[in-house]
Amino acid sequence: MPTIRVEAGRPYSVHIGTDVFGLFNSEYKELLDSADRIVVIADEKVASLHLGHLLPYLKSYKVDVFNVPSGEQAKSIETFMDCHSFLLAAGCSRKTLILAFGGGATGDLAGFVASTFMRGIPYIQVPTTILAHDSAVGGKTAINHALGKNMIGTFYQPEAVLYDIQLLKTLPDHEWRSGMAEVIKHAFISNEQWLDELLAVESFQAMSDPELMGHLEKGIAVKAAIVEEDEFENGMRKFLNFGHTLAHALEAHLGYGNITHGEAVVLGMAYALHLSSNDRLNPFLEWGYHHGYPFEKVVEISFGELLPYMKKDKKASKGDLNFVMLRQIAQPQMEKIEEQAAANSYEELRLKIGEVIK
Ligand SMILES: NC(=O)c1ccc[n+]([C@@H]2O[C@H](COP(=O)([O-])OP(=O)(O)OC[C@H]3O[C@@H](n4cnc5c(N)ncnc54)[C@H](O)[C@@H]3O)[C@@H](O)[C@H]2O)c1
Ligand SMILES: [Zn+2]
Repeated sequence: MPTIRVEAGRPYSVHIGTDVFGLFNSEYKELLDSADRIVVIADEKVASLHLGHLLPYLKSYKVDVFNVPSGEQAKSIETFMDCHSFLLAAGCSRKTLILAFGGGATGDLAGFVASTFMRGIPYIQVPTTILAHDSAVGGKTAINHALGKNMIGTFYQPEAVLYDIQLLKTLPDHEWRSGMAEVIKHAFISNEQWLDELLAVESFQAMSDPELMGHLEKGIAVKAAIVEEDEFENGMRKFLNFGHTLAHALEAHLGYGNITHGEAVVLGMAYALHLSSNDRLNPFLEWGYHHGYPFEKVVEISFGELLPYMKKDKKASKGDLNFVMLRQIAQPQMEKIEEQAAANSYEELRLKIGEVIK
């Protein structure tokens, strides 16, 4: 079973496979035995689909399940408080163990709950989306504020990540697209040969288990290596934001939920490649078009509509437009771009996309 060690804070392992939950009764038995109870914080949709697969592995323990709203709605202050109320009413203590069961949204929420309940209790990430190969690793936890996404949170590493790829089979098409976007992002910033392999994938859902596992393992390894170097995002962790300056603006402009995060990131990576004069732009546009990424949004939305959001990006400093540029594959660098140059490049990209999607 592919296992990646993450040496951030207290070291932990990410296990990927088709039978990972058996580890609850072997490698993690001691941890589970030492907990006074286990609380599964579960995305309600994931719970209805897959709880029946998880719970049998926990049958010798005292387990409570707390369902939270599916997806991004989980990251509200109300749901956060509901989790704390549940834990308190159930008599949980510092010895309680939380399992985060769902996509990145549930993982971010449950991690934040774990980091704040009684000043911090242990948790295990049990991600159920492709995108969560990214979000479950690295220890960033968060909920949203009305004035901004992910504005309230902590850095808090899990005890382990148990990633069962069987659960991914029920993901809808747009969630495959969203997750594979972050996978190819990891390839862009780290490994040209792997990028070529991904650009050759015909159908995400038709990938074999070993092929999918291989891509997820590589993606997690890239994320883990960067997080180890820069746990608290002072330096190279920013490279993980390749494509994200424009993506965050698109998500904010369209309203969260109207485009998935990863779909927005693909559009943002196309823009960053264009800004960087990278000759991989054309094959990338063709790949993205083939897989159904919503490039038409770039044609429909003007630069002026996105600019205010790009200026507000929490990674921006003093109103400059900051981009992760990629002049060469695997060599990301941060650059400030003048507003006018950024606007011109966006217009050129719109024309180019107009030609591809005709
Ligand atoms: N902490 C980090 O470092 C980090 C990094 C990237 C993204 N994020 C966060 O992750 C979140 C996005 O994560 P996500 O894309 O996993 O989205 P998500 O958790 O919102 O899940 C997306 C949708 O898929 C459904 N779903 C989940 N697993 C499923 C399954 N196996 N089968 C069928 N449906 C399933 C969910 O109910 C939801 O409707 C955002 O809130 C983002 O801010 C965090
Ligand atoms: Zn992202």
